[in-house]
Amino acid sequence: MIYPIVIYGDPVLRKTAEDITKDYPDLQKLIFDMFETMHAANGVGLAAPQIGKAIRLFVIDSSKMEEDEPGVKMAFINAEIIEESEEEWKFEEGCLSIPGIRDKVERPEEIRIKFLDENFRAHDEVFNGIAARVIQHEYDHIEGVLFTDHLTAFKKNLIKGKLTALTKGEVEASYPYKVYQGKRK
Ligand code: NI
Repeated sequence: MIYPIVIYGDPVLRKTAEDITKDYPDLQKLIFDMFETMHAANGVGLAAPQIGKAIRLFVIDSSKMEEDEPGVKMAFINAEIIEESEEEWKFEEGCLSIPGIRDKVERPEEIRIKFLDENFRAHDEVFNGIAARVIQHEYDHIEGVLFTDHLTAFKKNLIKGKLTALTKGEVEASYPYKVYQGKRK
């Protein structure tokens, strides 16, 4: 099943997501569907809040990015970044929840992360380069943070109008999406 992607302006994207347990309903199907949703939208990462679920789950598949061979295809449950390198690098990012906006973001080159895989096996692993970048972007999502939050005040000001347009449903995307209809605080 392909989920519609939640667009910028939906409060679910700003929530700190909650840990889940092994008995989370239909977890295997959810993870499968998240990979399917991500691939259908040509994304390299997708976090559960982006399909409207404020839980600490994200999937990544960086194998389609030229820069990352052979790439990392994995699900991350209840992840916690425990170390970040001091070294940072800039790379252009986009987000399925923020179509039409891309910009360079500075992030640590290497991270150490604890997480559970789709079978709830515990991992403690180090990632670097593109994989580390995609993981950090998705990890931000389960913390209620978006890549645009990392931009300078000047850049934020430049994209302000575009972001407002997205909240009003002026969205151009080649995949199914959902604009928040409720009241905003
Ligand atoms: Ni994103």
